[in-house]
Amino acid sequence: MNNILVTGGLGYIGSFTALRLMASGFSCVIIDNLSNGKVSTLDRLEKLAGVRPAFYENDFADTQALKNIIEQESISAAIHFAAFKYVNDSVTNSLPYFRNNVAGFIDFADLMREKGLPLIFSSSAAVYGSPDPPRSTEQTPCNPDSPYGWSKRMDEVILQAAAAGEQPLSSIVLRYFNVVGAHPSGVLGEDARQTSPMLIPSIIRSVLEESSPLIINGTDYPTPDGTCLRDYVHVLDVADAHVAALNHILKQSRDYFEVFNVGTGRPNSVLEVINAFERVNKLKVPHEKGSRRAGDAVAYFAATDKIKEQLNWTSKLTVEDACHDEWKWAQNKNV
Ligand SMILES: NC(=O)c1ccc[n+]([C@@H]2O[C@H](COP(=O)([O-])OP(=O)(O)OC[C@H]3O[C@@H](n4cnc5c(N)ncnc54)[C@H](O)[C@@H]3O)[C@@H](O)[C@H]2O)c1
Repeated sequence: MNNILVTGGLGYIGSFTALRLMASGFSCVIIDNLSNGKVSTLDRLEKLAGVRPAFYENDFADTQALKNIIEQESISAAIHFAAFKYVNDSVTNSLPYFRNNVAGFIDFADLMREKGLPLIFSSSAAVYGSPDPPRSTEQTPCNPDSPYGWSKRMDEVILQAAAAGEQPLSSIVLRYFNVVGAHPSGVLGEDARQTSPMLIPSIIRSVLEESSPLIINGTDYPTPDGTCLRDYVHVLDVADAHVAALNHILKQSRDYFEVFNVGTGRPNSVLEVINAFERVNKLKVPHEKGSRRAGDAVAYFAATDKIKEQLNWTSKLTVEDACHDEWKWAQNKNV
């Protein structure tokens, strides 16, 4: 059986990917330093998968510890989720982002290269910045507009260079768009230590705390309803994209390097998401118009032709599914 190292596997996307990997016959070895993940996620994974993945509380930059884990667990590939991820936080507090996401990553990538382990890397649509036109293909020039986006772009450049070296490292870069949703059972979802600034969690806070309505940042953008457009992709679909990428890279040579967008290819506006949430959950979302937020792109969404052709992956779930599943998770999460 293939044992897969999942860094950051107690976080949001990492935990869903671990679940889908286990359902696809892989076995998972999670490392996480708990800076944003929680150990209780292991119970949730066990409940859904019927198997408890191996877990080590470690920093991925501790390469000596990691080397021992790789040898002990006979690891055959790695998926690297561990990173700091909050765009606005990275603007006000940039250096920890470069230290964790880039400095720590160099030794980690070098260890994967030394051990001959293929790597799937979590990147982000943030590497494109504010693309014009808003539909980004993998060839769209990268022009990040936050330290977070730059940290991801730097890692991509490191991986591309490492694939061309004498003893190369093979990798697949997945650029996710806006990841949303939870498990339809309500058993697994985003359980971060920080309050999520993402749209659906913000909608849920406004429903639960009626005194603090959701502020829509900008209602006068040049879009059909005046609010920003984003590509919201369900976390279960994103997890499946990792299984497809892993099955693909395990068959490639050691100098393989490719980049794929992971999105639905369809933009939704902020108002459309609010309306979907109200419709699906039969609830009112208290909201107010607010002013534009500095640095917000008007619109962006993914071109998905490449991942469809080469990895045979397309998204299946909808924004409605995400609204339903996140509300169910919000009601269950403290149970
Ligand atoms: N959530 C999104 O919409 C989104 C979009 C694009 C890209 N991404 C990227 O996907 C990856 C996963 O995102 P997520 O939403 O699951 O984030 P998350 O914060 O929920 O999960 C990241 C996990 O990594 C752990 N971690 C952080 N630094 C670590 C370190 N040095 N050593 C060990 N563990 C560490 C955290 O404790 C956490 O459990 C990140 O790299 C993020 O940048 C996320």
